[in-house]
Amino acid sequence: MTAENTYDLVVIGSGPAGYTAAAKASGLGMTVACVEKAPRPGGVCLNVGCIPSKALLDSSEIYAMAKSGLSAHGIRVTDPTLDLSTMMTRKDQVVEALTGQVRKLLEGGRVALLQGTARVMDAHRVEVAGSDGGISILEAKFILLATGSVPVTVPGLEFDEDRIVTSTGALKFTEVPKTLGIIGGGYIGLELGSVWQRLGAKVTVIEMLPQIAASLDGQISRALKRTLDKQGMAFRLKTTVTRAAVSKDGVKISLESGGKSESVDFDRVLVAVGRKPLTTGLGLETVGVEKDPKTGHVRVNARYQTSVSSIYAVGDIVPGPMLAHKASAEGIAAVEAMAGLFSEVNYDTLPSVIYTWPEVAGVGLTEEQLKARGIPYVAGAYPFSGNARARCMGETEGLVKILSHARTDRVLGVHMIGPRVSEMIAEAVMSMEMGASSEDIARTVHSHPTFSEALMEAAGAVQRQLKK
Ligand code: NAI
Repeated sequence: MTAENTYDLVVIGSGPAGYTAAAKASGLGMTVACVEKAPRPGGVCLNVGCIPSKALLDSSEIYAMAKSGLSAHGIRVTDPTLDLSTMMTRKDQVVEALTGQVRKLLEGGRVALLQGTARVMDAHRVEVAGSDGGISILEAKFILLATGSVPVTVPGLEFDEDRIVTSTGALKFTEVPKTLGIIGGGYIGLELGSVWQRLGAKVTVIEMLPQIAASLDGQISRALKRTLDKQGMAFRLKTTVTRAAVSKDGVKISLESGGKSESVDFDRVLVAVGRKPLTTGLGLETVGVEKDPKTGHVRVNARYQTSVSSIYAVGDIVPGPMLAHKASAEGIAAVEAMAGLFSEVNYDTLPSVIYTWPEVAGVGLTEEQLKARGIPYVAGAYPFSGNARARCMGETEGLVKILSHARTDRVLGVHMIGPRVSEMIAEAVMSMEMGASSEDIARTVHSHPTFSEALMEAAGAVQRQLKK
């Protein structure tokens, strides 16, 4: 073994979990290699997930505004037309720039970024099969698994990335589908459905549960459905897909709902029914790294150590929501644990955002969870129709809702739907992280006029409830 092949840490995967961990470890003085099988670092999030979808969400939002939102502001434009190819090129440039930044971050931090497919050989060795066919063996004190996740498949709907696509395929359609069927009314379905709907597709979301985005607070989920209904998105709830037949013109989908069957034709179909941990081919069974046989998640302790003490795991392959910011936080915490430092991720204050328009954001417990756990709570809400900035902007849909403990007033959950709540949620996260009460938020002076005043007003509504 040569000295160049020996590291303190070998990270497998360069997504938000892996690259953040590698950069942190290097910052703490460790020697680090990060192995990535794709040509570019950044993982799903940067290459085919969060970033390209947000680039298209932003572009399609502007297009929708130009099409129908400007006249209310007294701005007349004549028939804006879509140049999809430029929109896609711009999205690719955003991805290129950000993956380039990750490469610079790693290489600038003296992390060896190696392209190849990694397999764990034993507790301290990783074999890397390079794209040129060469094999190298890396030795490390610690190994960090950060290999992410892949889409779940629905039996009978095989992905061909043309007619039946994953989110990756739905980010690069070369023309707007006339009709787009989306299986799964979760994060991906609602975000990419919004993109193609704004660009002109007739979108139908097929969801097996009685509500969309079921993990949201019920009031917010219902408000989101109402607003997407108004935008023209069609929903088939409590409906499952039994099979699909692909032809050269489209896809015929067989649906079942309430014991009745029917078939519907779509130009294209996006399947977005969740993702599962990607651990195949990593050699984990041989090394003795334990997994949950039901979910496929790698089992870790509070320090992200697997059943083999020198091997750690973070991100989508360990339990918890499959969110980039959760993955990066775990990456940092795992490296701090390796370095013998204090490390912790507070899962009670992990925010989540759905980038529809209006946006949805939440942190902490939902009203349904509070009821199920028998926790006494008080709810206060404030609508954006009462918010001055929202009026000025003409974006008055939505509300902010705060749930606080009925006896201590400690904030237990904050849920929002409205303009740019993806930015507003940070204040709620910070408040909860600091153990704030709704009174703390209500007494905090907020700039006027801003959207964030809606949070202060919702806190005021909680205060009035508590004084009743
Ligand atoms: P998801 O878990 O958000 O939604 C999947 C939906 O499909 C659920 O509502 C589920 O009830 C439904 N479903 C499952 N099987 C079905 C079937 N056979 N027929 C009809 N409906 C079915 O998963 P999604 O949207 O695929 O996203 C994957 C992951 O990516 C999520 O865990 C999410 O955390 C992450 N993500 C996060 C984003 C964000 O933070 N803004 C954006 C996009 C994805």
